[in-house]
Parts: sequence; structure tokens; C-alpha cells
Amino acid sequence: MKRTKVIDILKSEDYGKTIVAKGWVRTHRASKVVHFIALNDGSTIHNVQIVADTDKFDEELFKQITTGACLSVEGELCKSPAAGQASEIHAAKIEILGPCPGDYPMQKKGQSFEYMRQYAHLRLRTNTFGAVFRIRHNMAIAIHKYFHDHGFYYFNTPIITSSDAEGAGEMFQVTTLDLARTGKDDHVAYDRDFFGKKTNLTVSGQLEGELGATALGAIYTFGPTFRAENSNTPRHLAEFWMIEPEVAFMDKDELMDLEEDFIKYCVQWALDNCQDDLAFLNKMIDKTLLETLQSVVKENFVRLSYTEGIEILEQAVRDGRKFEFPVTGWGMDLASEHERYLVEEYFKRPVIMNDYPSEIKAFYMKKNPDGKTMQGTDVLFPRIGEIIGGSVREENYGKLLDEIHARGMDESNYSWYLDTRKYGSCPHAGFGLGFERLILFVTGMQNIRDVIPFPRTPKNAEF
Ligand code: 4AD
Ligand code: MG
Repeated sequence: MKRTKVIDILKSEDYGKTIVAKGWVRTHRASKVVHFIALNDGSTIHNVQIVADTDKFDEELFKQITTGACLSVEGELCKSPAAGQASEIHAAKIEILGPCPGDYPMQKKGQSFEYMRQYAHLRLRTNTFGAVFRIRHNMAIAIHKYFHDHGFYYFNTPIITSSDAEGAGEMFQVTTLDLARTGKDDHVAYDRDFFGKKTNLTVSGQLEGELGATALGAIYTFGPTFRAENSNTPRHLAEFWMIEPEVAFMDKDELMDLEEDFIKYCVQWALDNCQDDLAFLNKMIDKTLLETLQSVVKENFVRLSYTEGIEILEQAVRDGRKFEFPVTGWGMDLASEHERYLVEEYFKRPVIMNDYPSEIKAFYMKKNPDGKTMQGTDVLFPRIGEIIGGSVREENYGKLLDEIHARGMDESNYSWYLDTRKYGSCPHAGFGLGFERLILFVTGMQNIRDVIPFPRTPKNAEF
């Protein structure tokens, strides 16, 4: 008999019908006459209750129905007398598909997330991680739908590249050479390497995305990116997924409109399509989760220049607010705590900070006439800090080339990028959303390692 997914069983009102459920045991408790087994198959946060009469089955079979065991159950769908569930299955046949011995690491409730991270291959079977990864899936669907509906083309940029898109040098090298034998970087004959030159994993698809946007008009990427920055924080991964839309003829105000509209759409999508999982996370992880999500969708984001932001932070320090990282004034790079002060304490809503000092931002951003600032637009979120980094791009060939030289970058690696400015250059803009930062925000989880199935961080590449 074909199995019915738990999510469909719980919606069904075909009482009296014989059905088959398959899944993993969450709990098993017994009275003298009857056993109750909560079965979950990952299709929903909810379990289906199996009711099995004690005298109908072997005692040996019941002994094997332990937390984590995999079962197939055939029985009659019945209206449930118990509160909180509409239906249950009265078991006629129970088959143990996979027994689960007592050393199952996910057996106990309330294990810490640190503990569960060591078992990333098994934590997927817990309620919390089930909810997180169902939501993660839904957010990916929302993102594709948003861009598709708004006339953007999904554009795939290379994973292996020879350019440093952010110019920050935080790259993982890709090579087939045995570098231990070939010697140090200076002496390595990269012409003998697989690609005939030095290559790395991409830190961002933006530069190639710009090539797409200046031909197709509006594109977005959605792919993995890699950064070898040694940041051991709850918000950094060495391998993360990024969404990077890029649009021809877009100016700074339109870019900020797009950032705000897009992220609100994603959050609203979660509210509309992930209700059960969000309700669970709101109860178990963060009691203010739903409220926070709803308020982000409702509020207009504050648009704040970097210069004004620094003034607010300086005033806060004068008023006695203490920060772990000092507020050193104009030109400083904001730490996450500074961003969160502005968002959570000062404005109490998301902020799009813009017009950053050139020195602290990437080479490709469009310069303002003041000669000091660039048209960068970062979206700062409660609990997260920076969730989006974006900018208008410098479309002037000479200015862009000057910036590449000023930063000591190798012009020859960017000739194809400069060509977009040489041949029919156009104003354009785009941004990058860190997918896991969005998932962190939407799920209320605290650590970015807990919103990607198999996190990669310094000294950790298990699985
Ligand atoms: O601000 P970033 O570095 O911007 C770019 O890469 C641009 N090329 C984007 C663009 O304009 N097309 O990164 C963009 C976003 C950040 O705002 C953050 O959400 C996320 O990517 N991010 C990370 N997420 C997890 N772990 C890391 N190590 C991250 N670094 C950046
Ligand atoms: Mg950034």
C-alpha cells in the first residue's frame, strides 16, 4: 500500500479509511491497554499519533519502538479524542523498518545547539532543525518567485574564478598542484596548474552578474560563495549562499526601494507559508519572533547616511552608552553592535545605511561628487546587523580604473569587467543578500551554524 505523508494524514477527514504512515518515532508511551506512538516523517512539524492496542502486538515489537526508530504503520484513520489533534491511526500492522539503539545521540530532549552541531547529520531529525530547513526551502522558493515575477533572469556565475570580486583577498585557492612540493606562492609555476593560472573559489558573483545585467537588463544570482576570513562569529560562515540581483539603469533610491521591497516580500512569504514552523520556533526559540517579523513587514525602513549614523553613535557615547568596540568617528567601520544599536535601540526598525566612506568599501562602488563617499547601501536588521550589502556601481571607465590602481589590484584580472565600462557603459546597481542571515532572522535562531545543514567555519569541515 502507498504511504500517505503525515502532513496529508493530518488534513484528511477520511475517517474509517485504511492508510499507511511511515516515519521516525518521536515518543512512545504506554499504558496497560494501549501504546501511543508519535510518528514524524519530516513533511510537517506535527506528528501523527499511532494508537496500538497492547494485546494486539508482541511485547518484543513494542520494545523496538524507541525514539528514532523508523516504522511503517498500517491502520485505520480515526477521529482523535485527544486535544490538539484531529485524527490518529489505530494500528493494525506495525513494521520496524530501522530499529534505533539506545545510544542514538538525538534521543534526549533539550540538548544544546553546540551539542547537536557535532551531530549535524542527525540533528536534521529534530523538531527545531526540521522547522529551520523547511523554512530555508520556502525562502529559496520566495526568492526565485520574487525575481521571476519582477522580470529578473536567473543568471549563474562561476564558482571557480581568477578574480577577487570584493578585492579583500579572503579567498580559498583552487589548484591541482601539490603546493607542498612546488614551493611557496612566488615560485609556483601556475601555468602548469589546471587552469593555467591561479584560481580561487568565488567570494561573490557580482562582477559576472554585472556582465549579465548590462546585457539582459536585470538578473539575479543565487549560489554558494566562499570566504577564507577567520571570523568565528555567530554570523559568519566560510561557505554561505548569496543572492545577488543586478539591474541596469538603477539609481541609489531605486536600489534602496528594491532592497526593502524584496526583503519584506521574503519575510511576508514566511509568515504566509511557514505558519506551523514559525509558531513552533516562536514558542521554543524566540518568543518575540512573530512580532519581529510582522513589524519588519509593516515599518518603513529608515534611510540614513553613514555620516548621520556616526553622529548618532557619537552622541550615544557622550550620553554614556558603552560599546565593546570603540566609536572612533567618521571613517570607522561599523561593528555589528553599532549597527544593532541604531536598529534596535535608536530607530527600532530596519535601517538602510548609505554613502559610506570610500576607504571602508569595495573598489566598484560609485563615487559621490564629494570625493569622500561612495553610493553603498547596506540594510541593517534587528538581531542580525548587516543582512544586505549593496551599491550603485562606478560606471565611469577612468574612475573605475583609477580605483583599481589606487588599491594596488591587478588590472589584468579585471579587463573583461572594465570592458563593460568601455563598450556602452550604463549606470547600474545591485546588492547581495546573505541567505543564511535571512534564515537566521526569519527563524529566530541565534547562530548561523544552525541554519545551514553542514556549516563550514574555521577548523570545521565535517561531513
Ligand atoms: O557585503 P558583502 O561582502 O557584499 C558583496 O559581496 C557584494 N558583492 C554584494 C553585491 O553588491 N552584489 O556581502 C553581501 C552579504 C552581506 O550583507 C551578508 O549578509 C552576507 O553577504 N555575508 C555573509 N554571510 C555569512 N557569512 C559570511 N562570511 C558573510 N559575508 C557576507
Ligand atoms: Mg558588506
